[in-house]
Amino acid sequence: MEKGDAIEGARLFRTRCSHCHTIAKGGMHKGGPNLYGIYGAPAGQAPWYMYSPANRNINVQWTHANLSSFLESPQTFMPGNKMSFRGLKDPQQRADLLAFLALQTDSAPKEQ
Ligand code: HEC
Repeated sequence: MEKGDAIEGARLFRTRCSHCHTIAKGGMHKGGPNLYGIYGAPAGQAPWYMYSPANRNINVQWTHANLSSFLESPQTFMPGNKMSFRGLKDPQQRADLLAFLALQTDSAPKEQ
């Protein structure tokens, strides 16, 4: 597996994801749901977000491997979802983004 760089991941999130998703804890939903805590969480569970049936009913955990497959090709991993994003084909970019998302959770190791 590629080693991810969370700083680069934060930059990618800003340029590729943030027009549809917020990442701050308690952030609002935009076109897509707030993504704080998504890493390791069950899919389709953000409170008050109107998911497509595809996303609401997929019944997977967003493990590292599942998030990576989804971000590589959203419509292959989750056919019929409403996220208009073609995918991040570069494995290094996915690893960077996932290193960033892994820090945006309550269970992430905290810096002292
Ligand atoms: C054009 C808007 C758009 C962009 C850009 C976008 N998303 Fe999404 N995303 C959505 C929408 C809308 C959904 C909800 C899909 C559904 O309900 O079918 C979603 C769903 C998701 C989910 C599933 C959430 C859950 O609770 O199960 C994840 C994870 C996700 N997006 C991550 C990302 C990441 C990471 C990026 C940047 C690489 C990104 N998205 C870029 C609109 C977008």
